[in-house]
Amino acid sequence: MRKQGGLRSRIFARQSALYHRGRHALYQRIINQDLIRKSIVKEFQRLYYNTRSRTWRNTQWLGVPIIKCPLDLWVYQEILFELRPDVVVECGTSKGGSALFLSSMCELVGHGQVITIDVYPKPNRPQHKRLTYLSGSSTNPQILKEVTRRIRDADGESASVLVILDSDHSREHVLDELRLYAPLVTPGSYLIVEDTQLNGHPVWPDFGPGPMEAVDIFLSESDDFVSDTSREKFYLTWNPRGYLKRVEGSVVRQHP
Ligand SMILES: C[S@@+](CC[C@H](N)C(=O)[O-])C[C@H]1O[C@@H](n2cnc3c(N)ncnc32)[C@H](O)[C@@H]1O
Repeated sequence: MRKQGGLRSRIFARQSALYHRGRHALYQRIINQDLIRKSIVKEFQRLYYNTRSRTWRNTQWLGVPIIKCPLDLWVYQEILFELRPDVVVECGTSKGGSALFLSSMCELVGHGQVITIDVYPKPNRPQHKRLTYLSGSSTNPQILKEVTRRIRDADGESASVLVILDSDHSREHVLDELRLYAPLVTPGSYLIVEDTQLNGHPVWPDFGPGPMEAVDIFLSESDDFVSDTSREKFYLTWNPRGYLKRVEGSVVRQHP
């Protein structure tokens, strides 16, 4: 009797293994189809974005609200570790969560300063020895002059710079920022355009022309940058086509 029971359970185990292997193979076949992957990511991205009070309006870095997707923050961490820029410039501070995150990463890698700019400075923003706040519009010539001066102070003409655009998300403003800040970015470094997901890419379909549309125009007029889609490896990103990498060897233009 016991022998029969043992045989039955071995047959059951074998059948179950075959069943699960078959299911796994079927899953792999389905998930490998580009269209299916894209629609899974798109639906998850919409779910994540549209349930904001649970997700991105409820995200903090060291207790400070941060309006970023954690998967992008991980990519930021990888970029900062790889490039160790002398200066990170962020347009759009809000409550300072992302500025503090960037400063914390610089502290962990033991290198870099962060300059963050906001036209409507909020009270009680976090302090950090690597962080400087500037108040004014990112496209104001005085602000740009101050940013340029601070970059020069950081390491003379050879300071390496990474720029993040996360302020007013209208196409016109982002395009202005792209044109103004691109010359500051050093070859091999990044000009990151946040929230290219807006205007139906794939969230907030009636936002109107925004960061993605600005990127389209900017890339059509500049050969110095390419969209580095390898930074979209986690599938979900708030910055599709927004990780703009300055081509190695492109001439660093002086800012007017
Ligand atoms: C999306 S929030 C920034 C979020 C922040 N980087 C984070 O991840 O927590 C956009 C910010 O841009 C600021 N802003 C809007 N227009 C601006 C401009 N012309 N120049 C600078 N900042 C601007 C707003 O005041 C707002 O605080």
